[in-house]
Amino acid sequence: MLKGTRVALRARHEDDLPILLTELHDDVVNSSRSEGGPWRPLSPGSKDPRLVVDDQERSRVQFSVVELAGGTLIGTAGLWGIDDHNRCAHIGLGLFPSARGKGYGTDVVAVLCHYGFVVRNLQRMQIETLSDNTAMLRSAERNGFVREGVLRSSSWVMGAFMDEVVLGLLVRDWRPGAKG
Ligand SMILES: CC(C)(COP(=O)(O)OP(=O)(O)OC[C@H]1O[C@@H](n2cnc3c(N)ncnc32)[C@H](O)[C@@H]1OP(=O)(O)O)[C@@H](O)C(=O)NCCC(=O)NCCS
Repeated sequence: MLKGTRVALRARHEDDLPILLTELHDDVVNSSRSEGGPWRPLSPGSKDPRLVVDDQERSRVQFSVVELAGGTLIGTAGLWGIDDHNRCAHIGLGLFPSARGKGYGTDVVAVLCHYGFVVRNLQRMQIETLSDNTAMLRSAERNGFVREGVLRSSSWVMGAFMDEVVLGLLVRDWRPGAKG
């Protein structure tokens, strides 16, 4: 288990699946904004890779996010597109509505940076998010990510094209614990 100051990132448990389905995937707007593709319903018991972890898939690592105090499940987070040649990966995360806006997202990004840079010896982490996702942009920037560019009209989200912002952080610029 990986611990931050407010959250812990642990392995996915079977019991997490129906909660993740209800709290995150079944919210069509949230899913459409987060997943970069068309929303489709998932049945209970689905083996969809967004829910069920495939331990043989080397390019992704998925965690369940829990509160450090008490261990309550509050979301999902992970690295995707892990590239061991260029030593880089992308960050993805989603918290349940009741867990948002409490500082947890900022802490999750910090823990994922520790995992990527220290545990996995990566040298670059990247986050893509919609340009109006202030909470994601700030969670990244508080951990030292800088805005590297805007992908104009790159995402079709609920009836409109939206811009995405690309943020990056290099290990040489990473200051663990700094929240600037
Ligand atoms: C994006 C997300 C992970 C951020 O986590 P969070 O716990 O809500 O964010 P935090 O509480 O750590 O807040 C981070 C910053 O954003 C600000 N913020 C939080 N919610 C906000 C909101 N709704 N509007 C504007 N700013 C907001 C906070 O004030 C804080 O700013 P500061 O660092 O300047 O003080 C979370 O909101 C979430 O899961 N959203 C839905 C899914 C999603 O968008 N995932 C990302 C897809 S790329």
